[in-house]
Order: sequence, then C-alpha cells, then structure tokens
Amino acid sequence: HEKHKPFPQDFLWGAASAAYQIEGAWNVDGKGKSNWDQFVRIPGKTFKGTTGDVAVDHYHRYKEDVALMAEMGMKTYRFSIAWTRIFPNGKGEVNQKGIDFYNQLIDELIKYNIEPIVTIYHWDLPQALQEEYGGWESRQIVEDFKNYSITLFQAFGDRVKYWVSLNEQNIFTRLGYQTALHPPGVKDDKLYYQVNHHASLANAAAIKAFRMYVPDGKIGPSFAYSPAYAATAKPEDVLAAENAEELTNHWWMDVYAWGEYPKATWNYLEREGIAPQIEEGDLALLKEGKPDFMGVNYYQTTTYEKNPLDGATLEANFNTTGKKGTMEDSGIPGLYKTVSNDNLERTNWDWNIDPQGLRIGLRRITNRYKLPVLISENGLGEYDQVEADGTIQDDYRIEYLHTHLVAIQDAITDGVAVIGYCVWSFTDLLSWLNGFQKRYGFVYVNQHEEGEHDLRRIKKKSFYWYKEVIESNGEKL
Ligand code: BG6
Repeated sequence: HEKHKPFPQDFLWGAASAAYQIEGAWNVDGKGKSNWDQFVRIPGKTFKGTTGDVAVDHYHRYKEDVALMAEMGMKTYRFSIAWTRIFPNGKGEVNQKGIDFYNQLIDELIKYNIEPIVTIYHWDLPQALQEEYGGWESRQIVEDFKNYSITLFQAFGDRVKYWVSLNEQNIFTRLGYQTALHPPGVKDDKLYYQVNHHASLANAAAIKAFRMYVPDGKIGPSFAYSPAYAATAKPEDVLAAENAEELTNHWWMDVYAWGEYPKATWNYLEREGIAPQIEEGDLALLKEGKPDFMGVNYYQTTTYEKNPLDGATLEANFNTTGKKGTMEDSGIPGLYKTVSNDNLERTNWDWNIDPQGLRIGLRRITNRYKLPVLISENGLGEYDQVEADGTIQDDYRIEYLHTHLVAIQDAITDGVAVIGYCVWSFTDLLSWLNGFQKRYGFVYVNQHEEGEHDLRRIKKKSFYWYKEVIESNGEKL
C-alpha cells in the first residue's frame, strides 16, 4: 500500500479550452479570418462539414460559463486567445474590441478567484499571414508572433501571471505538414522540420520578451507528450522506443528546456537531407527562451518495435477519419514502428487508457529537465448521452480522471513538482475534425451537427465529482 504525499496546498485545480473550439462569433467585432475559418469550409475536411462559426457560443455566454466554473470551485482556467481578434490580419493595428473581450473574461475569472492561464497560440493562425508568407513556413512569423505576444503581455500581464506559449507544436506541425489533416494540409517532411524550427524560435522569442514585460509571471509551452514504450525486451525494440522517444518527444522538449536539438535525430535528419536550416543567432535565441515549467498535455502512451529499413513509413500514421492517436503500422523505416499495446484498454475513440503512462512521463520530464510540470490537458472524449431524466451519467469519465489523478499523486509522491491539472475540457466543445459528438466537458452543451441545438448547458455527473475533489484538495478522489 503506497503512502501518498498530499497535493500541494496551492495546487491549481482546473480545466482548459481553446478559442476556436468554444468561442464561435467567428466574424464578430472585427475578428479576422483564421486558417481554421478557412480550412473547415473545404468540403470533406471535418465531420459533416462542422465549423467553429458558432462552436459553443462562449463568446456570448462567457459569464454563464465562468459562473459554472465558480460553482464547481475551480482554481484555474486555461483558455486561449484568438490571434485574429487582437490582430485581424496577424499584425498592424490592434482591434480594441478583441482586447475588450478578453479583459472582460479575465476580470470575470478574477472576480471569482479563478487564476487565468492564457495560451497565446492554440492553432488558429491568422489566414492573412498564411497567405502573405506561408505562416510558420517563413522566418517572418518569429517577429509577428513576438509582437502579438508582447501585445498580450502588455494588455493582460498585470492580471495574468500564468502563460502557455504554443499549444502542442508537435501536433499542429505534424497534422499541418506531415499528415495534411489540419491546415494548411501539406505533406512535406523537409518543410515540416523547417516549420518546427521557426515555431521553436518564435516560442523562444516570446519567452525572452516575457521576462521584460511580465517579470513576476510564469510561462512555458504545452507539449503533447506521448511517452514511448518498447513492445518487448528485445534490444532492437528497446532501441526503437529510444529512437521514438528522441524523435517524437525530445526533439521538442530538449529545445524548449535546453535550446539544443538531440544528436541522434539531428544526424538522422542530416543524412536524409531534411534537417532544418539554422541561421546565425538561432541557437543563441533558443537558449535564451527557457521556460519556467513544462506544460504537458497527456492523453496516452505509444508502443514501438523495430522497423526494418524497408518497413512502413509515416504515411499510415493517422487513419482517414482523422482520429489522431491511432497509430498502428506506422513509423519510420530503420528507426521505429508503432504497434498496439494489448495491455491497455481503449476508449470508444480508440485512444489507449494509460494512467501509469502519465506517472512515467512526469518522472521522465523531471529527471531530464528538472522543471516543474503543469498538466495543461488530460481528459476523455466520449459519446455522452442525456438520459430521459435530463442527467448525464458519465461514470467512465470520472473513472478516467480518478485513475489519472491517482497516477499524478503517485508522481508527486515520487518527487515530481506538479503545479496544476487542467482537465480537457470545462464545457463540451468542438473536437476539431470530429464535430460535437466527441465530448470532453464537465458541462454538457446541447450542440449538434444536426437537429435541435439550443446550446443550453447541463452539468454532468463528473461536474459534481470534480467539485468534491477540488473542495478536499484531492483527498477525496
Ligand atoms: C489536444 C488539443 O491535442 O487534444 C485539443 O490541444 C484537442 O485542442 C484535444 O481538442 C483532443 O483532441 P480531439 O481530436 O479528440 O479533439
């Protein structure tokens, strides 16, 4: 029987969201068009052509949503800012109405003692920048992202002390430039690594500027961490898992924490002729942008085995319905190949359920980077049903969150410094490619692709459960 350390007294119990997935009001109050506003209009890209034009209408209902957060006792709320509300064209004149909206939201949170955590970038790039210079494909993005970030630091830094720079750089670049499932819908491995170099530079430039504008604040990226497991104890499978841990995880986290690219992966990319082009001053800048914490979005682990040189390529990495996370029979010839892990249960969306993987991941990060961790996302996407009596009995979500919180407490007991836990998500929201059928929230939103959708909010069973967890500071899990 393990003796647990308690959760820290100031632990940030919370939930998270992203602008495009909740706000709606896509063309309201001077907002410019984002890459997602553009992409979802291309036939066949999303489930039933669903868009975020309305999403769950948080833009107009934020007071109701924040009141529900307060009722649940939430200590923190992580949300993202839509770049196109602040700069409709990505740069130039500030749109005051955009600033006003986030000021009101932040003030509303503070009124209830909910600590705001602001994500600067959660995937909705101004379309104008995509059209002008290819967005992340050009080094110009570094300057524009830095200026956008500084504008936010100046406008909100007096009240917002926790910031997330980029959300899941590894995912938005992979889906945007390797699998083509997200905008700009490109498949180009060389460009993918170049885009990542620009994004890492932008991340570092924003963090460096942050020190001047919000000296008493804390900032870090949110990385989508899927710890690598070896399929067997065969040395070649263990090596495959090492390769994958370096190429799919350290490639980003080493750069965030140390400003260095991992060696074996760098040398592999050079041999393949796809290493990014690095200019003078780049490596120095990467070293100047050290984060205060590692933000971790954790959903599942990935298991690997040896991939012969004539084996499967990354092509098959995602199935056609866009369910990222189902990664059987994919990989890089000579390096690794993903296989299913029969020791783990799966969700109805085919994602592994692996709470211990979170403990393992937290320990790996702590040992390697010696940084505190903010769990900036973790949660369960499911098909929730409203019962005849109007309730939503999401016991499976309670079970999922419960087991992950136990794993977090195990990790804290091991010595990991965890700052907070943001469940994905507070209300149901638009699941990028999957419409509204894949639900994550503590609060159900009556929003559907078809039929009745009056957007009313209903508290799920998990809402009441999490309220007690927070009230007891994690003693009642
Ligand atoms: C994370 C993203 O990758 O996973 C969220 O930061 C996203 O924006 C979440 O919604 C769940 O993914 P999905 O595809 O199930 O919506």
